[in-house]
Amino acid sequence: MNREKFGSRFGALMAMVGSAVGLGNMWRFPYMVGTNGGGAFVLVYLLCMLLCLPIFLSEIIAGRRSKANAFGAYVRLAPGTHWGLAGIIAVITPMIILSYYSVVGGWSLDYLLKALSFEFNSTNPELGSMFKDLSISTWRPLIMHSAFLLLTSLIIVSGVSKGIEGFSKVMMPTLFLLVTLMAVRSATLPGASEGFRWLFTPDFGKVNVTMVLSALGQAFFSLSIGFGIMMTYASYLDSDANLFHFSTRTTIMDLVFSLIASCAIMPAVFVFGVDPTSGPGLVYETLPFIFSKMPLGNVVAIIFFLTLLVAALTSSISLYEVGVAYLVEEKKVSRKLATAIVFALTWTGGVFCSLSFGPLSDATLFGLNIFSLFDYGSSNVLIVMGSLCLVIFVGWQMKKGDVKEEFTNGGTLAANGRIFNILYFVIRWIAPVAILLIFISNFLG
Ligand code: PHE
Repeated sequence: MNREKFGSRFGALMAMVGSAVGLGNMWRFPYMVGTNGGGAFVLVYLLCMLLCLPIFLSEIIAGRRSKANAFGAYVRLAPGTHWGLAGIIAVITPMIILSYYSVVGGWSLDYLLKALSFEFNSTNPELGSMFKDLSISTWRPLIMHSAFLLLTSLIIVSGVSKGIEGFSKVMMPTLFLLVTLMAVRSATLPGASEGFRWLFTPDFGKVNVTMVLSALGQAFFSLSIGFGIMMTYASYLDSDANLFHFSTRTTIMDLVFSLIASCAIMPAVFVFGVDPTSGPGLVYETLPFIFSKMPLGNVVAIIFFLTLLVAALTSSISLYEVGVAYLVEEKKVSRKLATAIVFALTWTGGVFCSLSFGPLSDATLFGLNIFSLFDYGSSNVLIVMGSLCLVIFVGWQMKKGDVKEEFTNGGTLAANGRIFNILYFVIRWIAPVAILLIFISNFLG
């Protein structure tokens, strides 16, 4: 069978960056920086990203070497073993994430529509309860979730090169431009410097084990590593693409985007005197209030929620593609049917997640509603297990010679050959220990 492929290096890179840049960069990172010691957190986060680089590389090495979907990669590179189990985790995790991610994506869509109808103004009596009203109701979030997932599937069904690559190639540069515009607007508000001070003044007193591990967890989530996504994308790369370049460039752009997003959000939060630590609620509860007070606020709101929606879409297509690639290659179904199956599964999961804020809010397990259960289970358990399997697989199961051959394109990339040993050492020894530590710390608290 003729496998799909990315058509250009730039397009492939934009697809990877598109997966990495998402809601994690827009709301989680800025608030984590501020509450965890500002500049000190940024430094620690930089080191964490450095550690993630070899893990990222393991994933794309396995993906391109096997030229297969996430499940197929494990099975083909280690035939006759039980590694297929790791492949199953790698295929299921993205679908679980997509179920709740598309609910959040649906909220962004709803907020974009609100911004377009100029609802973020200080005379709107519903401004304060907007998010609650949306999330606890039954139909509206369901319709938005369905619309968001439908948008995602339209891109997926058009194929890897035309759909995923075509969309990311146009949208990612646009996204960088939009977020930069917002940062300029935010930074030029009178009193913005307070926000910058809060963001970046280093407070090394806040550096401790918990902070380091949460930075590491954020780096994992933000780079979309550990659950078959980068593996699947890398399988669409041609054999002379330089994997080291892909991993460093994606990492740098993801980091830069997080930093610009922080500069877009936090100064405004300070100027308008709202609590910077409001965390997950920041985007949907606090920002509308800020937009209502800011000069040209509605225009900024439209740009902001458009940015959020596009960032969520380029991430959700990457989650979607893992399941589709698996079904097409392993179950031999057409791309259309595979898209429909993944749609049906994740849509159903998403319906439960969406209703868990309203009609199903009483359905809880360990004190968590369905949405949080999906979120917690996937980010704290499945992603961690997935990445542990991955580094053990590349570091201990695959032959060193094969890993090196893939990393250096058969020895033609001499510069990659020179750094191979150190990267390989991290993959074999340091990465598994670091991942285990995150796993343990997640359970302790
Ligand atoms: N990396 C994305 C972000 O930072 C989130 C994501 C997680 C995307 C998992 C795909 C898969 O928001």
